[in-house]
Amino acid sequence: MTPAIGGLTNRHADHSLAIWRNGRVTTMQVRDGWEPREGWSIVTQGDTIVWLGPANQLSAEHRRGIEIEHDLDGKLLTPGLIDCHTHLVYGGKRDDEFEMRLGGVSYEEIARAGGGIRATVAATRSASTAELLDSACRRAKTLQRGGVTTIEIKSGYGLDFETETRCFEVARQVGTVCGLSIRTTCLSAHTVPQEFAGNGDAYVAAVCQWLPRWKSSGLMDAVDAFCDTVGFSLEQTRRVFDCATKLGLPVKCHAEQLSLQGGAALAASYGALSCDHLEYLDDVGIAAMRAAGTVAVLLPGAYYTLRQTTPPPVAQMRRAGIPVAVATDHNPGSSPLLSLPLAGNMACTLFGLTPQEAIAGMTVRAAQALGLKDRGVLQPGLQAHFAVWELDHPREIVYWL
Ligand code: NIG
Ligand code: FE
Repeated sequence: MTPAIGGLTNRHADHSLAIWRNGRVTTMQVRDGWEPREGWSIVTQGDTIVWLGPANQLSAEHRRGIEIEHDLDGKLLTPGLIDCHTHLVYGGKRDDEFEMRLGGVSYEEIARAGGGIRATVAATRSASTAELLDSACRRAKTLQRGGVTTIEIKSGYGLDFETETRCFEVARQVGTVCGLSIRTTCLSAHTVPQEFAGNGDAYVAAVCQWLPRWKSSGLMDAVDAFCDTVGFSLEQTRRVFDCATKLGLPVKCHAEQLSLQGGAALAASYGALSCDHLEYLDDVGIAAMRAAGTVAVLLPGAYYTLRQTTPPPVAQMRRAGIPVAVATDHNPGSSPLLSLPLAGNMACTLFGLTPQEAIAGMTVRAAQALGLKDRGVLQPGLQAHFAVWELDHPREIVYWL
């Protein structure tokens, strides 16, 4: 059984017309439902979808121009999956902490003792750029085999200007090397590094000086902060968001993961693209996210790994009409997970999403969480990013473990 053939980003460099025939297509457009459409074809030009529909409705004009043919042989085709929250670039690993946590030491205790994020920061700073690229590409290719075509990659394991810059550059290179579309997010406000120990405010001031430099070199697409007792206070998070907003960058927030801090409501007041984790989200945060149109990104890999017991308030989010996305949160500490379909499975089993909500959360909602309007559903004019599956029905994407 090979459920996934993998994510395919159409990269016929020129503008020749290509056809993908004989597919069973789920577009993830609400009006199409999600039952696969039998015998559909998709016509692409360069990296764009120009037509899709039943093969017998293909116009003579399109038929004449086609130069490249792909036979899908009845396979299921969906929008390429979008992993909208990862920390894919880092050095080392933290299997020792996994063992410690199983022995009863908590994630916060490890962090306060100088392990956790700081351990990965030390390993990342001492890794060469080539090593960082090689390990990140291996992870990216694993995600790609699970149908992923777009990955958001956060910085946040360098925590000094030079290493964060290298991590951004590596993240961009992953896209070129692996044939993936990459969005980068600055998470320099991930934890206070050793050299600023006890002086989080000074560190935040330093981050605010770095942001304009990364903005002008085009290295980052958004700004995130970890608002938590082991991360940054509400006031520090506000300062980071003020700097981002002045630069015209959208914000995101690691919010209410380990405790309720009010990060979600704060981020929503900046029109955040997304708030992520949200296990402890309250009604105030829900109302603020609803008003701002902020996406809730659920990260069941971290919930599972940290053996948390309070799931995010999915029923309330649903009632409020908050868009819900699902991501791997891949990182070496709280979520060493490299399968987005498995994250989708966990979102169903642990958080109560329906399979259709989970798959929308990995396609159309994930695109929204990244502020991308050109992908996430299959439609003429949008990106030709596909996932091809040896499956009968899209719900199987989150069924197979
Ligand atoms: O999203 N919550 C903060 N950051 C990461 C974990 C980072 C780490 O443990 O290395 C997360 O879970
Ligand atoms: Fe994260």
